[in-house]
Order: sequence, then structure tokens, then C-alpha cells
Amino acid sequence: MRFDDVAADYKQLVDQAVGISGEETEYFAEYKARYLSRLGPDFSGRVLDFGCGVGMLSGRLKAHLPEARLDGFDVSDRSLERVDPRLRAQGMFTSDAGALGHDYALIVVANVLHHVPPPERSGLICQLRDRLAPTGRLAIFEHNPANPLTRLVVERCVFDHDAILLPPAETAAHQAEVGLRLVRRDYIVFLPRFLAWLRFCEPWLAWLPLGAQYVIVGTRDA
Ligand SMILES: C[S@@+](CC[C@H](N)C(=O)[O-])C[C@H]1O[C@@H](n2cnc3c(N)ncnc32)[C@H](O)[C@@H]1O
Repeated sequence: MRFDDVAADYKQLVDQAVGISGEETEYFAEYKARYLSRLGPDFSGRVLDFGCGVGMLSGRLKAHLPEARLDGFDVSDRSLERVDPRLRAQGMFTSDAGALGHDYALIVVANVLHHVPPPERSGLICQLRDRLAPTGRLAIFEHNPANPLTRLVVERCVFDHDAILLPPAETAAHQAEVGLRLVRRDYIVFLPRFLAWLRFCEPWLAWLPLGAQYVIVGTRDA
């Protein structure tokens, strides 16, 4: 219900919370979509944006993976109502988990798990694994609790009051528990806008556990 309540103002609320970085919501969505488009393979099959919300990331994913059929799932119907009709026309955006497929080339879970109570996280990742195609990949983006500015952003964000952040080791352990092989573990989003001219260095910092966010990518492909 909480994300139903903020669906109309979602972008504005995130923009306020991340204002300290000098960037707006679109920057972070574009960053993640670009990262995934460079991950390879080219993801021309089905892609699922799990916890898609109002579809901010979905839109950028479709732009970077134009050959993919993009589906979205969220528990918030009010958020789903705000997904761009052009995305709805090419794929399914639903709160009905039973309507989703079991052959996804890529499942993206961006900033969702910290809203899922810890005892439920493993079960959720197990269900997502079962929805992957045999060579499919599961990419989980999360806030990095080791970054003090990230913790400040979470404290300032009205819909993050229930958030329980996960360190990368926990996210990686959940994936390993359900038999997913680790493909990548990268830290992302290091520099604020006033240092944007140095951002070309960020891919070389992916090992440094100070990024504002991180991503863990696993695959069923043994
Ligand atoms: C912070 S928003 C992130 C939205 C989007 N992934 C993005 O990056 O812009 C978290 C989203 O996760 C959804 N969510 C929370 N718990 C969920 C669950 N158990 N299953 C699916 N979605 C969930 C919320 O409804 C909300 O839309």
C-alpha cells in the first residue's frame, strides 16, 4: 500500500532524496540500463523488471535493449497504472505473478530487496531463479550500506522508512543459496554531478566498495 500512496509523486520524492548528488531519478535509471546493456549477451529475448514501480528503469531498459520484450511486475497497482503506455503495448506490466513467464533472459531487481523483510528474501530470489531461462541472468541492484551518503539519502526518503539495507555479501549469498553462479559483483555510481567530468573513470572503480549502489549478477548457466 505504501508505494500505492506515493505513486503519483514517486519521481519528485526520489529527486528530493537524491538531490545531494546533483542528479535526478533519470540519471540512476539510465546508469543501470546502460550497465546492463554492456553486460552481454544482448538480451534479445524476454526481460523482466521486477519491482518496476512507475517504470522509470523500464523505459531506459527498453531504450537500451530495443530487441527485448520487456515485462514488469510490481505489488503496487497504482504505480503500474503510471507505466508509459508504449511499454505496456510491447509487454506485460502486472501485479499478478501468475501471469509472468518462466523463460526470462534477464530479470532486473532494482532497489526492491531492501523493502522485502529479510526472512522473505531467499524465497523471493528462489522464485525469480525459477523464472529464468536456462542461461538467464538475475541482476540485483541495491543501495550500498557502506556508503554514508547513501545512508543519508535513505534516511531522507519518505518511502524508505521501512528499508533494511543489504550488504553485497548478503545479496550474493542469497543468489548462491539458490544455485545461481556469480557473474559480476560491481560497485556503481561514485561521483556527484559536479565531478561528472571524472565519471569516465567509474568502470575502473567497480571493485571499490564505496559506490553509492552495487549490482550482483548471477546466472543459472553452470
Ligand atoms: C524504490 S522502488 C524501485 C522501483 C524501480 N525498481 C526503480 O528502480 O525505479 C521499490 C519498488 O519495489 C516494489 N516492491 C516492494 N516489495 C515488493 C515485492 N515483494 N515484490 C515486488 N515488488 C515489490 C514497490 O512497490 C516499489 O515499486
